[in-house]
Amino acid sequence: MSVDLTAVIRPEVAALRAYHVEIPPGATPRVKLDANESPFAPGDSMRAELAGELAMALADVELHRYPDPEVRELRGLLAQNLGVRPEQVLASNGSDEAIQMLLLAVAGPGVAVAAPVPTFVMYEIGSRILGLRFVGVPLSDGFDLDVEGFCQALRAARPRLVFLAWPNNPTGRLYEAAAVEAILHLCDGEGCNALVVVDEAYTHYAGQTFLPRLGQYPNLVILRTLSKIGLAGIRLGILAAGAAVVEQINKVRQPYNVNALSQAAARVVLRHPEVVARHAAGIVRERERVLARVGEMPGVLAYPSQANFFLIRTARPGGEVFRGLLERGILVRDFSRAPHLEKCLRVTIGTREENDAFLSALTGVLGHGR
Ligand SMILES: Cc1ncc(COP(=O)(O)O)c(C=O)c1O
Repeated sequence: MSVDLTAVIRPEVAALRAYHVEIPPGATPRVKLDANESPFAPGDSMRAELAGELAMALADVELHRYPDPEVRELRGLLAQNLGVRPEQVLASNGSDEAIQMLLLAVAGPGVAVAAPVPTFVMYEIGSRILGLRFVGVPLSDGFDLDVEGFCQALRAARPRLVFLAWPNNPTGRLYEAAAVEAILHLCDGEGCNALVVVDEAYTHYAGQTFLPRLGQYPNLVILRTLSKIGLAGIRLGILAAGAAVVEQINKVRQPYNVNALSQAAARVVLRHPEVVARHAAGIVRERERVLARVGEMPGVLAYPSQANFFLIRTARPGGEVFRGLLERGILVRDFSRAPHLEKCLRVTIGTREENDAFLSALTGVLGHGR
């Protein structure tokens, strides 16, 4: 007996490859610079105070009960943190889930979703899973956004959702705020009728945000995450928008989507914005130091970045450079086979020691200072 999966699974799903993070078999990298995480665990510098608070908060959690389905306490804290009202905030199981909720809320036959590409892959994967038509509009050669061309593509595709990763992943580029505003204007029902999602996953490293403009643009949705500021393990994403938008998206949310332990951990860390800011400032300094060093190396082009990672394009095939780094214990992300990203690798900023290890490994791989 067997089941004919081709008759059961939707063709869009059958055609996909599961998202997995590739670490080649047998590789045990010393330095992990592949996933845009923060190198700083919260406990490292918040030390005993945070560890104590976290232990107390976790001890208080009633694990035999479902968590608060409305995530009230945490949402109140998030709202305060972001300077919006609690009814403008949704908490999610990572911002991946917020992306999925947005897609679910607009999904329907023939519906289009647009984004400049290359960008964060989950916009496209999530769209495909739901049978949505993903329209990827190529960025310029230097990965900048040609706003005229993009708006023209939006007028033609008429999407219901537009995703702008701001700064963009994997390129690190922060588009001009005026370009984002032009897109918000276009999508406000005149040229195009769409929610514009400004995904601010890396905002702490860019120092710019569209949050103050939420009142101005009813079609603006902002995504945030704690994953890039030291809490990737708890999976907490945040969606902020006008209350009317949040009310609709909330209808597709699973009732207990953020578990009690994650809610408790997030509450503690959100009470320490100064630690997040200090870590972010350190990472930005390191980013500029590492970029300057890589910029001096022949055979590699480093793209400027406003995030906690940067993209390089190597003269040698990207796969070779990736493997050379891995042999020296450094894991970065190989994008060299992805569309628009030939010979490109993405490198997350780590601690100073990790970054030095990366720099000397790259020097070795490129054949200088061996
Ligand atoms: C632009 C962007 N948005 C969202 C995410 C997903 O973040 P989370 O860990 O909150 O699901 C990422 C992760 O790499 C990202 O780069």
